[in-house]
This record gives sequence, C-alpha cells and structure tokens, in this order.
Amino acid sequence: MEVIIKETAEELGKVAADDIARLLERKPDAVLGLATGSSPLPIYQELVRRYQAGELSFARAKAFILDEYVGLPADHPEAYRNVIRREFTDQVDFAPDAVHSPDVSAPVQELAADCRAYEEAMAAAGGVDLQLLGVGTDGHIAFNEPASSLSSRTRVKMLAQETRRDNARFFGGDLDSVPYHAVTQGLATIMEARQLVLIATGEGKAQAVEQLVEGPVSALWPVTILQHHPHAKVLIDDGAAGRLLRANYYRENHEHKMAWQRQA
Ligand code: GLP
Repeated sequence: MEVIIKETAEELGKVAADDIARLLERKPDAVLGLATGSSPLPIYQELVRRYQAGELSFARAKAFILDEYVGLPADHPEAYRNVIRREFTDQVDFAPDAVHSPDVSAPVQELAADCRAYEEAMAAAGGVDLQLLGVGTDGHIAFNEPASSLSSRTRVKMLAQETRRDNARFFGGDLDSVPYHAVTQGLATIMEARQLVLIATGEGKAQAVEQLVEGPVSALWPVTILQHHPHAKVLIDDGAAGRLLRANYYRENHEHKMAWQRQA
C-alpha cells in the first residue's frame, strides 16, 4: 500500500487525477469506479479542469458508482447518481449511457436481484480499472459499515448512526431526512478493482486512516481490507495523517520514489 501525504486536498486531487490521466492514456475505454462524499471532490474538480483544457477525454470510458441511498425520490439532489452527475460526469464528455449506478427503484424486498444485476454489469464491462474511495469516520468504505463481511458483494446495508449523523450535513442538518438504508458494492466487489485510490482529509478521518495504514485487518474497520490489495494508494493530508506512527517514513518514501515507480 502506498501512502502519500500532502498539505492540501488540491494537491491530493492532482495525484489522483494523474493516475486517472495515465490510465485513460493507456486505455481510453477504461472503467472508472466513482465515489461520492466530499473527499473526492478535489479529484473531480481537477479532472473537469483538465477536460476543459483539452488534456483528457472520457468519451470512451465507463463509470460505476459505489453505492446509492434507498428510499429517496429519483430527482432528490442528494441521491448519489444525481450528486455524481452534478459534481463530475455531466461536466465532462462521458457518453449518455456510460455512467451506471445501483438501481434502487424496486421495492426493498426485490433489490437483491438488482444488486446481482449491478455486479453482472460491472463484470460485463470488464471490471473496474481504477476505483476511487473515501472513508467514513467509522472506517466504512462505500456503505460497508463496521462488521461487514470482508467477502461481501453488492447488497442492501443499514447505515450506522454515526454515518447518518455525518451525512446529515448534506440534508440540511436534518438527521431524520437521512435514509437508513443503501445499496452498496461489497468489500469483495471493491477489492476486485485493479487499482484502488482512497482519499481522506482532515483530523476527523485520522482514526480511520490509522487503522487503515497501521492497524490489523478487521471487519470492525472495513477500510483495512485495502491492506490485502496489490495496488492501493492512500492519499491523505496532514490532518488525516495525524495519528500515524510512521508518517515521516511515508513522506520520505514518497520523496525518494524512483523514476520507474512514478508511473504506478
Ligand atoms: C458516505 C459514502 C462514502 C464516503 C463517506 C465519507 O457515507 N457512502 O463513499 O466515503 O461518506 O464521506 P466524506 O468524504 O464526505 O467524508
């Protein structure tokens, strides 16, 4: 696992955008895994900037979103498919049908079939080449809350109270408006992506990042599953790095990276 510590979220956004640019250069029809939340926004802003500058095109790429709230009206501004369109995909040149999200329109007891269909659609597209991730303060990725099976697949999950409280800021601070359930890619689903890039900023994420980088792999901190991935990058700012024992080593390691390693 590669840990990169930078001072600002903007710098981290550029590191992730570089990875995506390299991927698209090598494979213009790449499959991107997109995450919502506030952490990846600097990545999307940088990608939009590069697209507008004519440096990048998503015309042949596809995208799959990690998760989706269950129970919000289709046009709700905080439904993740609407968030991702607004913040990123509508601002660049993805083809109209290229951006996929879990279908949550069926009654909840019928969602299992749609979860399987989502997995099948990802597989039919050739699998995710690069998956962007954030992390919740309780260590969840997508909506895989603590004690999620490390071999879980796409399914309905109930949100932890801490997550609903954290996400209430997107719902005008009203906890009651935050859905209790979501469809989320499972941990095993996420681990199948060829490359993982996680971004976390601010002191609020320091404990989750400490577990991710230096803790034991545990279902209690689902994000720690990334330790088992052969190609995972963790992009953090000084606040999120605040509890890491070996932060100086990670900084030095990045400064002294050899030229051939810089393309990874
Ligand atoms: C939500 C999303 C996650 C995201 C997390 C952190 O719960 N389902 O994918 O990583 O929030 O969000 P933020 O980046 O806003 O802190």
